Amino acid sequence: MRMLGIETTCDETAAAVVELPPGGRARILSNEVYSQISEHAPFGGVVPEIAARAHVETIDGLVRRAMDTAGLGFSDLDGIAAAAGPGLIGGVMVGLMTGKALALATGKPFVAVNHLEAHALTARLTDDIEFPYLLLLVSGGHTQLIAVRGVGEYTRLGSTVDDAVGEAFDKVAKMLGLPYPGGPHVERRAVEGDPERFQLPRPMQGRPSPDFSLSGLKTAVRLAAEAVAPLNTVDVADLCASFQAAIVDVIVDRVRVAMRLFREQFGAPSALVVAGGVAANDAIRRGLARYASGAGLKLVTPPQALCTDNGAMIAWTGIERLRLGLTDGLDFAPRPRWPLDRQAAPRHHGKA
Ligand code: KG4
Ligand code: ZN
Repeated sequence: MRMLGIETTCDETAAAVVELPPGGRARILSNEVYSQISEHAPFGGVVPEIAARAHVETIDGLVRRAMDTAGLGFSDLDGIAAAAGPGLIGGVMVGLMTGKALALATGKPFVAVNHLEAHALTARLTDDIEFPYLLLLVSGGHTQLIAVRGVGEYTRLGSTVDDAVGEAFDKVAKMLGLPYPGGPHVERRAVEGDPERFQLPRPMQGRPSPDFSLSGLKTAVRLAAEAVAPLNTVDVADLCASFQAAIVDVIVDRVRVAMRLFREQFGAPSALVVAGGVAANDAIRRGLARYASGAGLKLVTPPQALCTDNGAMIAWTGIERLRLGLTDGLDFAPRPRWPLDRQAAPRHHGKA
């Protein structure tokens, strides 16, 4: 089974081809990504109109490159998958229309993919793990703890009531005069800093429901920064280190609580999976690795290129769905909001 996957929900334009040989392991035949970061950086965040325009300008060439790199023609495909949400509507429309047009022109089945489902299923592409597992999805737009029970079967155990983790990194970076996106810069400065110089709160720690709240922590960083201003390099490093240490503690605590709920409701998970751009953070990875080994859990962190937005995860989700006979009509409408767990109460923040 071979699938083209198209991703345009945020600031990455991406197209990829994934192949699943009969009885074998999936292979990524191509994975083309155009990151728009440099176009948004001057504005300190993603500008929806700029994103939509950049998707329009690049998607055709990316699809062609993905097909060329895979060495395939459209007739070699078994289906075409495109992310249909959640995300910025202008961008979602570009990828969704491209996917539909290709499906119409080639007569291939079309799969409208939930971008969050694609993040959730990536660990099955990279590590071939079984259902069920606990997913920690941490990016600029999402912070969720999800029980992944099967294709289309998700239970949200927790999420953020305010900022996403990546967003908190980005806002703290901005406060400290570091460039956008801030996560990698905060991490780099933190390496040199003293994580104990500033006593920052660990919001929600110990709460029985595995939700996150990060705006109070962000405010605490701002107050700490104001108290020592003007900031020198050491102050910035110490603030970054103290902030990151608080985030690691919060994440590990929230995951521990989610894991307890998971076991009560669904039994033993096959793994703890971490996905999203923030999964690149080494301190967070190490914190989770310590927790997982103590709890006797397998920790799966897909390679960075597959943790951040990409087309391979969309193509793979297309395969997971197509092989269950789950295809979509060409009248499928873009969904700016599209929660994975429809039973869960809506949260005001985030793309879901
Ligand atoms: O998944 P992603 O590429 O895009 C979406 O938000 O969907 O995630 C980007 C986010 C940004 O907020 C960025 O600051 C954060 O991930 N990030 C990091 C690191 N690398 C990226 N946060 C902390 N540490 C990092 N090393
Ligand atoms: Zn994403």
